[in-house]
Amino acid sequence: MDQKIIIENTIKYVKETLIGSEGGHDWWHIYRVWKNAKHIAQFENVDLFIVELGALLHDIADSKFNEGDETIGPQKAKEFLESQNLDIDTVEHIVKIVENISFKMSKEIQIFKSPELDVIQDADRLDAIGAIGIARAFNYGGFKNREIYNPEIKPNLNMNKEDYKKNTAPTINHFYEKLLLLKDLMNTKTGKKLAESRHKFMKSFLDQFYEEWGGIR
Ligand code: ADP
Ligand code: NI
Repeated sequence: MDQKIIIENTIKYVKETLIGSEGGHDWWHIYRVWKNAKHIAQFENVDLFIVELGALLHDIADSKFNEGDETIGPQKAKEFLESQNLDIDTVEHIVKIVENISFKMSKEIQIFKSPELDVIQDADRLDAIGAIGIARAFNYGGFKNREIYNPEIKPNLNMNKEDYKKNTAPTINHFYEKLLLLKDLMNTKTGKKLAESRHKFMKSFLDQFYEEWGGIR
């Protein structure tokens, strides 16, 4: 099958699958990550087709919305890609990307690496920071009925992967437990550069937030 048609089929499949999903993990998140990934890929030596398919499928069944099950996403991606008659190496590579992209995986030893994963991971991380990152964090917090902020509950910077998955802390804590750490975890030069201004924006948001709260941290 022609690559262009496969991309079109993938967009259609992802849009249909994600109907009704939480606003920070819906088609528009995928769309932004796909755009960011294509932009970053221009400056990297990568297979653009793999970058595009990986970006489009990366959150096809996030474990957060599937009782913590990390096998459903890769399995769904695999089944879909096989239906497109792609060669086995391409399918396996994209499945590995879906398995390894998540931030919680950065809490474990990284076994799988690829330049295509690096690009998609940066694109996904960019969407977790800045103005969009703030909007997504509070949307997710609301979805989970979390407190916005509680000065008595301090961020936990030493969570392992299982603690991270079970965490129910206020949304402001998520900035310290993940969002503010992403800038230094970017893989590519372009990603690092784009992360800078988004990072600064989050810092100034937090300054203003505490000021309005009454100077208590
Ligand atoms: P990944 O999908 O890379 O594993 P996460 O599971 O940490 O990353 O979450 C993806 C996005 O979901 C975050 O960037 C954030 O917007 C939102 N999110 C996840 N966990 C929380 C949380 N505890 N509080 C607020 N937002 C969260
Ligand atoms: Ni994502």
